Amino acid sequence: MGYPVLTPDDVRHAAARLPRVPLAHLPTPLEPAPRFSKAIGAPPVWIKRDDCTGMAMGGNKTRHNEFLLAHALEQGADLLVWGAGTQSNNCRQTAAACAKLGLECYLYLTRAAHNDDIQGNLLLDHLLGARVHIVDVPMGPPLDELLLAKAEELRRAGRRPYVWDRHSGRPRAAVSYVLCLAEIVEQARSAGIEPAAVYCSAAGATGAGLVLGKAVLGVTWRIRLIAPIRWPWDTPADLAHVANQTAELLGWPHRVSASDVDISQDFIGPAYGTVTSAGREAIDLLARTEGILLDPSYTAKAMAGLIDDVRHGRIADGRPLVFLHTGGTPALFAYRDELLAREYDRGLP
Ligand SMILES: Cc1ncc(COP(=O)(O)O)c(C=O)c1O
Repeated sequence: MGYPVLTPDDVRHAAARLPRVPLAHLPTPLEPAPRFSKAIGAPPVWIKRDDCTGMAMGGNKTRHNEFLLAHALEQGADLLVWGAGTQSNNCRQTAAACAKLGLECYLYLTRAAHNDDIQGNLLLDHLLGARVHIVDVPMGPPLDELLLAKAEELRRAGRRPYVWDRHSGRPRAAVSYVLCLAEIVEQARSAGIEPAAVYCSAAGATGAGLVLGKAVLGVTWRIRLIAPIRWPWDTPADLAHVANQTAELLGWPHRVSASDVDISQDFIGPAYGTVTSAGREAIDLLARTEGILLDPSYTAKAMAGLIDDVRHGRIADGRPLVFLHTGGTPALFAYRDELLAREYDRGLP
């Protein structure tokens, strides 16, 4: 079945029916990276600067939070319960948004993913006034359960907590990345470019929003997702499911399937949150050619994916590439020791 192609205005119009609070500096810039492109022998690479969304050092979750926290306020919440790893960019941006909106923020951060030095994002969580609890529960379903249980405890104590698990929150969050793709469509048009692909670190709502955005906006570019983590479920099927829930939320007939989700798990390395040599090379190259910082867990691995595709001629038609920089740079400070270790061959410019 052929679905109608929507314009960026149509997308904004549909999203405007949902509650939303302004948190992000939008639209984020789409900038050329000519010295980087030359250094990797690529066609022109453009960088969509979602590391510049503005809320306590930026990142993709600030777009998500415009919809999630508006929903919390609409439900009369007085506090938020949320969690992930100790170096979670999501939690740091959520703590910042809560501070701005006058909501208390309870964070349950698992040390399983990285150490619990008060550095990087964890330091910022404290500065932003979040109530930080370090726990030893793995990310994924066990941590989701813990968050729901903590919210229930707070509810019984007379509070009005807002909590979302991976089922309930992601369609709202994904709306923000359909909007982001609409921004890129308009910016690419005004820059006079027709990209071959958009690269992005994602295995959740960000990726689902981009996949749905491609379907509704009739974009022919590849949306090349590079996973930062191996979830214990089938990620393409899961992202297609979230994309379809998002379409339903927005009242659209469009549906996608797992085969529409172009995601690679080849750049994760030994585990989520580890520094890989390809990621480390990407950090150095982009920093030294464009003055732009990547983070080790997400964006460095996504850029390693872009570089690898270029080097292996997988995207060979000469059209520009867009790299969607989802932020995460405060984590660099928590990775000092790993980043100072020089165990790889540095072919730097
Ligand atoms: C910097 C960065 N990039 C990408 C992602 C992935 O986003 P999503 O889980 O929405 O796909 C995250 C998630 O925390 C992140 O912090």
